Amino acid sequence: MKASLGEILIPNAEIQRRVKELAEAISRDYYEKDPIFIGVLKGAFIFMADLLRSIPFSVYIDFMAVSSYGDSTETSGIVKIDKDLDMDIRNRHVLIVEDIIDSGLTLHYLLRILYSRGPASLEVCTLLNKPTRRKVNIPIKYLGFDIPPEFVVGYGLDFAGKYRNLPDIYILKIEETQVGSVI
Ligand code: IMP
Ligand code: MG
Repeated sequence: MKASLGEILIPNAEIQRRVKELAEAISRDYYEKDPIFIGVLKGAFIFMADLLRSIPFSVYIDFMAVSSYGDSTETSGIVKIDKDLDMDIRNRHVLIVEDIIDSGLTLHYLLRILYSRGPASLEVCTLLNKPTRRKVNIPIKYLGFDIPPEFVVGYGLDFAGKYRNLPDIYILKIEETQVGSVI
C-alpha cells in the first residue's frame, strides 16, 4: 500500500476560527473550576496548544499517551497506555482533549479508566469526529467538525508517524500497490 497527500479537507484558517469558538464555550463553562485539561498524545498536541492559548485564565495541563493503531488505518480495538497521567484527578474537573474520534474504542476505554479515579466531572473535547464509523457511543461535549469517513492527516494527525506538522488537514490518498491487497 502506498499513501500520499490528497486534497485539503479543512484549511488552517478555518481550524483556527473553530478552535477560538470552542475555547470561548470551554472558557465560559470552566471559569473558576480550576480544570485539568488532558491531551491525548500524540495526535492532540497541536490542537491542545492552540486551544489553550485561547483560554484567558490559568488551567492545569496533563497528557496521556495511548496506542491502538499500529501503522494501519483501522483501529485494532486493543488500547495500550504508553504514558499515564502525572496528576491526581480525584474531585477535579477534567476535560479530555482529543484529535479525532473514529470507532470511539480508544476514548471509550480511556473514559472508563478516568471515571474510576473519581473526577468531579469528566467531559470530551475533540477537534474531529467521524460519526458514521462509530462502534461505541461517546458523549462529546465540545466538537470541532464532523467529517466524512476518510483517513485524514495534518494538524497533529499522522499516518505511520508522517504529516503531523502540516498546518492544514488533508485527506490521505491510499493506492493499492498489489492486486487484491487490503489496507
Ligand atoms: P478510534 O479508537 O477508532 O476512535 O480511534 C481513535 C484514534 O485513532 C485517534 O485518536 C487517532 O489517533 C487515530 N485516528 C482515527 N482516525 C484517524 C484519521 O483519520 N487520521 C489519523 N488518525 C486517526
Ligand atoms: Mg488520538
